[in-house]
Amino acid sequence: MEICRTIIEVRNILQNTREAKKSIGLVPTMGALHQGHLKLIEASKKKCDFTVASIFVNPTQFNNPEDLTKYPKTIDEDIIKLTDTGCDALFLPSDEEIYPSPPSLKIKLDNIGEQLEGKFRTGHFDGVGLVVSKLFNIIQPDQAFFGQKDIQQFYIIKALVDQLNFPIQMNMVPTMREPNGLAMSSRNMRLSTEELMEATLIIKTLNKAQERLLSGIDTITVRAEVQKLFSASDRLALEYFEIVNTDDFKPTQQLKDKEKIALCIAAEIGQVRLIDNLMLIS
Ligand code: PAF
Repeated sequence: MEICRTIIEVRNILQNTREAKKSIGLVPTMGALHQGHLKLIEASKKKCDFTVASIFVNPTQFNNPEDLTKYPKTIDEDIIKLTDTGCDALFLPSDEEIYPSPPSLKIKLDNIGEQLEGKFRTGHFDGVGLVVSKLFNIIQPDQAFFGQKDIQQFYIIKALVDQLNFPIQMNMVPTMREPNGLAMSSRNMRLSTEELMEATLIIKTLNKAQERLLSGIDTITVRAEVQKLFSASDRLALEYFEIVNTDDFKPTQQLKDKEKIALCIAAEIGQVRLIDNLMLIS
């Protein structure tokens, strides 16, 4: 696997790939790679001739400075995992390479960007939009791969691709889960064994809510049931549970377009913020 630390290096490698008429898949990550990320690499390898992963802990998307400093960094292990999965190139830029000076450009998405994560993590999606736009311009992939765990991020980047006319096909890859159902996340590394067990309340609640909604129980009752399940937990604090339509991520009581309805949770455990979601029909 080629490791490129500068924009010039990665562009040079990709120029040869493009000249050879090979399609390029991009998997943007912030490192601390787990099986979920490797699934994205596998998905890219299936659809594209050449797969590039990027690892960059993007400071502009962290609204909480402590979250940024505590974000896990496991670069040596990440390189081994990517190599073993058959990733072709890794773009591993420094902060200065991506932001030689503080960026004055703002990428702001109304509506969808202001819901859920946008409400609770002010400015988060502006930072994601900026860095992903930069990565798309640097790598110029044919396809890009993101995980369903960050479902709102996926739809925001899709809106960015549509509205800025990036010629990139977006792919959403299903969430990878631990055997007990907990969604894989780099943040899980910061949890104790007990917290990891307790955190399964998130997926248990999502499963229960999905089952209740599909059996015809109304959204208001299901929301109240979810609040109750979380209030019984000592360790987990529910930030939000929302039933949304993926067109705009606004809370909805209308479940007509079942295939567009997502159940989304954010909860905090031991100062670690976890998110997860299920489509109503999964
Ligand atoms: O999902 C992530 O890891 C990040 O938000 C992304 C897409 C790599 C942008 O920094």
